[in-house]
Amino acid sequence: MTTGFFITLEGGEGAGKSTQIKLLEERLSAHNIEVVRTREPGGVPSAEDIRNLLVNGETDKWLPLTETLLHFAARHEHIARLVEPALIEGKWVLCDRFADSTTAYQGYAQSMDMKTISTLYELAVGNLKPDLTIILDLPVEVGLERAEERDVGGTRYERMGIEFHQTLRDGFLQIAEDNPGRCSVIDATQSIDAISVQIFALVEERFLSSVTPSKGQTV
Ligand code: TMP
Repeated sequence: MTTGFFITLEGGEGAGKSTQIKLLEERLSAHNIEVVRTREPGGVPSAEDIRNLLVNGETDKWLPLTETLLHFAARHEHIARLVEPALIEGKWVLCDRFADSTTAYQGYAQSMDMKTISTLYELAVGNLKPDLTIILDLPVEVGLERAEERDVGGTRYERMGIEFHQTLRDGFLQIAEDNPGRCSVIDATQSIDAISVQIFALVEERFLSSVTPSKGQTV
């Protein structure tokens, strides 16, 4: 059975993931590909409720394990209720953040044990892995400034301090180095158009040649 592709966008605060994911959705839709655009934490009502617990309030509100469990609880709802069914129907799922964010934020930046993270992944997600992960990379100061412009006062994570965000950036780059077959890093200081062209080129190279006409797609 053919399923759709699962593509995730990752990066620190203010990297432009949401803009890029919308542009990718437009480009794929223009190729008659059925796309589901979603995000984590969230994507379905139950997971959006958990998101509110995570992104609001004091920075030290959760212990690292509780915080990690909450992200995986939200992820389990999202995967089981939206992502897996969509992939089975042959739709492409574009997800704004996924489990690499847990590795970077909770693992690298909040010192949560990596083994616990992979055990929880198996439990909450199972075997599913993204087919492609695009990591938008940019200097921490630039990203935080952009995020502050968008969201005055900042979310709980945006208020976690510059050192936290630097560790996070290094964490994402390490994830890319550890997973060269799945991850591609793009310089997010470039223009919106330049980034969008690079993302689409990656997607085209990897997947569009393998889309069969039986899926009703013209490529
Ligand atoms: P967003 O605002 O980029 O959509 O993401 C919400 C915040 O949640 C963002 O600051 C990163 C954080 N986050 C984690 O800490 N761990 C995770 O596993 C995910 C998916 C997001």
